[in-house]
Amino acid sequence: RMVAVLSGGLSHEREVSIRSGRRLSAALRSVGLTVEEWDADASLLSRLQSSRPDAVVVALHGGEGENGSVQAILEMFGVPYVGTDSRACRRAWDKPTAKAELARAGLATPEWIVLPHATFRELGAKPVLDAMVSTLGLPLMLKPDQGGSALGAQVVRDAAELPPAMVGCLAYGDTVLAEQFISGVEVAVAVVDGPEGPYALPAVEIVPESGVYDYTARYTAGLTDFHAPARLDATAAKAVGELAVAAHRLLGLRDVSRTDAVVAEDGTVYFLEVNVSPGLTETSLLPMAVEAAGQSLGEIYAGLVERAVA
Ligand code: DAL
Ligand code: MG
Repeated sequence: RMVAVLSGGLSHEREVSIRSGRRLSAALRSVGLTVEEWDADASLLSRLQSSRPDAVVVALHGGEGENGSVQAILEMFGVPYVGTDSRACRRAWDKPTAKAELARAGLATPEWIVLPHATFRELGAKPVLDAMVSTLGLPLMLKPDQGGSALGAQVVRDAAELPPAMVGCLAYGDTVLAEQFISGVEVAVAVVDGPEGPYALPAVEIVPESGVYDYTARYTAGLTDFHAPARLDATAAKAVGELAVAAHRLLGLRDVSRTDAVVAEDGTVYFLEVNVSPGLTETSLLPMAVEAAGQSLGEIYAGLVERAVA
């Protein structure tokens, strides 16, 4: 089999994707596949015209790599690829859309408000920020409505921190998702499509030294402690796995996904977001889950390549 691993791209997460692509390529070669590493830039179209890989594996993060754009190109060229289709990517990538869909299905997710930049111009910043605090309470979370690797995301503990945090968040997009902050055990649960349907890998528990799992805490070795499997009792471990599989199914995801969630002190499991192209770097969560399950990254992705080609 000849597989093209797509990485790089033009998003804020380009560097992360290059690291994911490198690791995935090595893992696929280790199980006997022939791999070409492609940068997802303007050369992608001519490469697809001149070269016919058996399948493409999307290891892009952020922007066009996760919002369905690259997937739509692959669909146009009729090239089999590993990962979620363009339509479901679009839905899952938009955090408020994914939350609304899963809340409708009865899953717990922190209360939220969506704030397009124009809201501030129309209503004035102060009334909007005041309403936000009175609706969601403090602390609260701000995130760009679309994005990854916590870029632009902020925990706001005090109302005075809100205006600068909002500016930081709006640097990454023109709409902010404000969420109630749920304290508890932060976990990431990878889901893989197997022969009998999607199954969850062991949850990975995230304990950032600084208390906040931001970009630096994600990609600097040693700044975050991980526990794989997570230190949860059997009931909670089962619940987080079920939540991740439910999110994968309800959002129509394919092959692989990773749901980020928090187990609150009262045991409720809250959905935070889902990632259609989970990071595969040396400090990323999915590879830790694969290892905790006693599986190999190469074998899992080689299996997904076979599914895509079949
Ligand atoms: N957005 C990064 C790559 C992740 O979710 O792992
Ligand atoms: Mg994410």
